[in-house]
Order: sequence, then structure tokens, then C-alpha cells
Amino acid sequence: MATTQELPANSPIGRDTRRVDGPYKVTGLAQYTSDFRFPGMLYAVPVEATIANGRVLKLDTATAEKMPGVRAILHRGNIGRIFRATYEAGFEGITEEGRPPFEDDIVRYYGQYIALAVAETFETAKAAADAVRATYSKETPNVQTHLESDDEPDVVLTTYGPRERLQSRRGDAEGAFATAPIKLDRTYVTPTETQNPLEPHATTALWDGSMLTLYESSQGVVNLRAVLAQMFGLPKENVRVITKFVGSGFGCKLYPWPHCALAAVAARQVGKPVKLVLTRKMMFQSVGHRPRSQQRVRLGATPEGKLVSIQHDYVYERSMLDAHHEDCGEATPFQYSVPNLRVTFGRSKRNIGAGADMRGPGRVPGLYATESAMNELAEQLKIDPVKLRILTEPRLDESLGVPFSSRHLVECFEVGAEKFGWSRRTPEVGSMKRDGLTVGWGMAGCSWGSARDICHASVQLRDDGTVRVATATQDIGTGTYTILAQLAAQKTGVSIDKVEVALGDTSLPPGPLSGGSLATGSLVPGVFAAADKAIGSLLVVAALTPGSPFANHSPDQLIFKSGRVFVKSDGSAKGVPFHDLLRAANLRLVSGSGRSEATLFSHDKPKFSTHSFGCHFAEVTWQAEIARLRVSRVVTVIDAGRIINPLTGRNQIEGAVVMGIGMAFFEHTTYDPQNGAPINSSLADYLVTVNADAPPIDVHFLNYPDTEINELGARGIGEIGLTGIAAALTEAVHHATGIRVRELPIKIEDLI
Ligand code: MOS
Repeated sequence: MATTQELPANSPIGRDTRRVDGPYKVTGLAQYTSDFRFPGMLYAVPVEATIANGRVLKLDTATAEKMPGVRAILHRGNIGRIFRATYEAGFEGITEEGRPPFEDDIVRYYGQYIALAVAETFETAKAAADAVRATYSKETPNVQTHLESDDEPDVVLTTYGPRERLQSRRGDAEGAFATAPIKLDRTYVTPTETQNPLEPHATTALWDGSMLTLYESSQGVVNLRAVLAQMFGLPKENVRVITKFVGSGFGCKLYPWPHCALAAVAARQVGKPVKLVLTRKMMFQSVGHRPRSQQRVRLGATPEGKLVSIQHDYVYERSMLDAHHEDCGEATPFQYSVPNLRVTFGRSKRNIGAGADMRGPGRVPGLYATESAMNELAEQLKIDPVKLRILTEPRLDESLGVPFSSRHLVECFEVGAEKFGWSRRTPEVGSMKRDGLTVGWGMAGCSWGSARDICHASVQLRDDGTVRVATATQDIGTGTYTILAQLAAQKTGVSIDKVEVALGDTSLPPGPLSGGSLATGSLVPGVFAAADKAIGSLLVVAALTPGSPFANHSPDQLIFKSGRVFVKSDGSAKGVPFHDLLRAANLRLVSGSGRSEATLFSHDKPKFSTHSFGCHFAEVTWQAEIARLRVSRVVTVIDAGRIINPLTGRNQIEGAVVMGIGMAFFEHTTYDPQNGAPINSSLADYLVTVNADAPPIDVHFLNYPDTEINELGARGIGEIGLTGIAAALTEAVHHATGIRVRELPIKIEDLI
């Protein structure tokens, strides 16, 4: 576990660093979207459809309109124009539900907004929304859970453009499977899951002439600005989106939903700021979910444990409207070595809200299926599952035919096995006991992609010895404020507490989406480039200011190190702090702008395949007499490049593992077959892992810098911790109980 590129001992990079925004949060100074208030502000509450399939025939708004304090009841008949938005490039112009609110009178899912009450108080708006009467023509909604692929063409449209349903193919997967000495053919099912961040979606919209300002709980202010500009037919410069703090998102806040446009159109129509905050119930209906998936995995192998064929054919549910793609097969072509492979997908339309990315979209359900199949194959072959994976380690990315930029998956397995004590495992079901309980062990590999999004940034060095760094990204609770402070401190030599961080505002230079675990890796080159420019300006100031100690030098004879300027050739000098030079020149600050562009959307054939890898080892205890199952410990090893902040990094992986326990045992959004409503649409009924369910989680990072991504070699870590964990847990359950559950979540009924 060595880092190949050493940083100075006092570097803030790689050091456990507490969140710089922590004090704002614990003292209540941090303003979340719903905390903002403006003079004359009105409150909006949507009217939700109570059917999932049909048409609105009539809306009776008379009672609601007459209520004191009601300013408007907006609906299809009287709402101002909202245009559609279309994909631009990069992460811009993306919506998960393409149809603007109220565009037609067709109801396609329960909870679809059909009207909007605007009033002086939230309570009045709620009462008015409840008083709107809708008459519908109804048809039975299709919320069926069994998924058969709809008869769609070979190329289907998704959020980012066309995609072939035959995702990947090499060799002759069908033929090699038919003749394989060892075969495994299994279908795995993952349920609909709903993201449910603690902070619900919220929007406050203000117009000043043709200038729109939107406060939004968003994982991507830059995209939201692009979408709003399109929806209201405005130049981008006329739209400003502000997101200072986010009570997490898990993907449902990546892209705008109908309520954003509704708040904005309402504010324009009533001529006042309008606030719209979603209820927890609405969070289950109209702002995305991880789609249900059904994945057939066929593996062909030799008795020695070499894979000869993989077929991964999956179907997922989609709404009537959206084009969300749940890329379950993303990692299948390169996770393990196999000469013959085929990955296909299909989709099945349902009367439910649009699907959306949920932490680790695609790979979380996908690796659950393929890693579970690997575990079942190991059992069939009587080969240790760790050994099977080491036997199938590829030398390069066999789907692209290029090397991995940095892949240390085998070392992850070895370190994880050692930390967990895997060598003490006895493979027979129910054979391990402790304190009267049956112990079950399971493991799985995991991975997540790595690429860069756009990051334009500015850095200022100031005469009081402070530094400001700014970029229009967001901090969704993962620690982005802190990472930015660390990066600026690293380059400028000031301490973390001397760095002011500005983010979450589209008036700043465009920064990365807080999604896809892209943010950290994208920030490094943008911020470093900006800091270099600011330092360049400082050296010019140092050389040109009359009376400066460097006045008889040219800027290129000078060097900046640890916050001080030196003459390059003069190794022994003490140097001059940058703020002294600025003061002497009567400058408040010098500034630099830097940029790095996205690599994610490049169409060039890459030189390297860049991913993070890792593994989970999980232990459960099972008390058959009372059917009590507990997760008792988890060891997770992650190879995600250089870890910039191990403290928040471990926290990300721990949180992901906790969420993975939810995926394996609790989370499941169910729909009422009568009216298509999400049934368990509250946090009392939608079960998630709570503290009492969370075991000790031991997180290790390998810390090999991957300089293909950026000069620090840092990749993102928000999502990888959730990939693979459900397969490790279901394997542990099988080891303890002898029962293989292939449809998540595992319920106690499955085990008795
Ligand atoms: Mo993550 S699903 O990209 O917020």
C-alpha cells in the first residue's frame, strides 16, 4: 500500500480533515433552500393526480380560488408557457422527465402534478390544493412487477442519446455457453428503490424583469441553469441557480423535476417570489427512483475456474415518459476475464414516475447480479470465491482492448481477506458458530467508473494572507467544500482555515456535477490551473513593484513555494510571504482563472480504461430459533486512487455500505395495483437501515494515485461503496442459512 508520488509531509492532501462547513451546519447558520425567505414571498403546493393512467376531464378550482389568501390556482388552462428542454452537451440540458408540467391532460403516473395552488401561507396553499376537485377518465395502471422487455427497436433513446440494446459483444457467448463444462443460469431481481435524502426537494423562484433566480436543492446547478434557460426561452446569463447546502441527494437531485419549472412559472405569473417544498409522499412519486430490474446471468466455466462465457441480459422498468437508462451491464465487459460475452438490455413501460440515477446507478443492481453469479459459480466449482476472482483477473480491459490506468483489484481481495480473517472460513452452510449463533460470511468485488466533468475555477490570493477558491459545483454533504479548501491550501501554502470556498452558484465559473463520483477528480485540475495563474500574476507583481525585494528580477527567475516567493537560484533564502508582496504593491488580491474540460463525453478511443475497484467482506449472524438475522461486521477495501480526505472518504464508504444493507434487506418501493400509488410512501413504511442495523464497518483505501485522471491521482468515492455489497450480504445469508434469495430485499419470510 504505497503511494507512488509523494507529497510533502505537511501537505493537507491525504490528511484527515474535518468538514470546513461543519460549524455552519451544527450552529444552524447553513441555509438550505427552504430556509430562504424573501419579501412578499408566496407558497405553492401542487395538486397530485390520484390516478396513474388516464386523463383529467375536468378540474373544479372554484372553491379553492375563493379561499382567503389564495393568489392563484394554476393549471393547464391558465399556466404560462413552459418549453421543453433538450440535451445540449456534457451535463447540460438534462431532465429525467422530458415533458414540462401541464403540457397535456394525460396522467401517466400517480402523483403527477395537475394543478398548483399559490397562496400567502403554506397552510392556505395546502388547503387550496386539497380543495381542487379533479374528474378523470381512468384506466387500470400497469404497475406489474414481472418485467418483459417491450418490443422496442434495436436502438432506443435514452437521456444521453441513442443506445444499442445489444450493449456489448465479443466472441460467441451463446456457443461457448452451450459447450461449457460448467454452466450457471440465474435470474436476479432488484426492486424499485427511492432515494429519499433527508432534505426534500425545494425550490424558491424569483423574477426581476427577465432575470430568473432559482434557489434549489440541486446536485447540478450548471445543468439546472441550462434547462431553465431552455424552458423559459432565456439566454443562460438571465438565469442564476443557487444551492449553498444540500441535505443530500443520492441522485434524485441531479437533474431538474417538474416542480422547479412550476415554481418559476408561478413566480412569473403572480409577480412574487414563490417557494415550493415537496412533501415526503411526493418524494416517492415525482422525483425519481432506481428502476426495478430483472437480470438473467449465464456463466460458462471450466472446472479449474476459468470463465469461458458471460451472458448478461437485463430488463428494467421505465415510465411512460422518461428515457432514463439503468446501465446494469456497464461493468460486465471488463470486471473479469472472459473471451465470449454478450450484454443486452430491454425496457418495460409502467405507469410510474420517471426513473432516475440513484447512487451507483446501473452498476449497483448490475454488480449485485454478476457478483452473486460469481459466488454461486464458486460454490458449484468448490473453489473459494476470492480465489475464483483472482483466477479471472484480466490483464487489460478486454472490452476496449486497452490497459487499465490503475487497477489493484487483486490486492483489494488480498487485503480484504486478510483484514477480515477469510482464511478461517469453512465453506459448508451453517458450519460456523459463535456464541450460540450461526455465522455466515460472504464477499464480492465492486467497481465504479472514473472520468472528469468540466471544472472552471478561480483562485484569489489576498493581502491578508487568505485565499478564495470558487467554482459552480455543489456540496451535497460529501465534503466538497473541504476538498476545495484542501486543494487551494495545497497549491498556495496557506492553512485550511485561511481558505474561503465559494460554490453552489451559477454566477461562479462552471463546475462539475455532484454525481457519478465525478466531482473530486474533476476539481483537482481546474483548481490547480487557477492557482497556477494566480501565482503567475503574483510573480509579475513581485518583479514589477518598485521597491519589491525582487525588483531586479524577471518573473521567470522567481518561484512560489508554500505561500512565499523566492529567487529560483537562491536556495537558502527565506522568501517573502505573498500577502507582504501584495500589501507593498497596494493590491488587495491577485486572481487566476483555470479550467479543465470533461473527459467523460469524449468519443475518442481512450488510451486507458479508468475505474475504481474494491471489495466487500461481510458477516451476518443467524439465530434460526427466532429467525433473527443481523449484519455483524463489514470490511471494505477500495482502490480509488489517491484519497484527498480519508476522513470524509471513509464516511462516504461507510454511508454506502449502510445503504447497501438497506438494499439487501429493507428498501423496496411498492405500488398499489388499483391506483398505481407508491404504497409505502413515508419513512415509517419505506424501511431503510437505521443505526441499530449498522455494524462496525472497517474501510481501507489502497491509495495508489491514478495520474491519468489528474495530477494528484484522485478518483471519486461517492458510489463505489454501494456496488457489490448486496452480493456479499446475500452470500453471507446463504452461508449461514443455506437459502439463496435472488430477489431483493431479503425478507425474514424468505428464510423461514
Ligand atoms: Mo449519483 S446517482 O450520480 O448522485
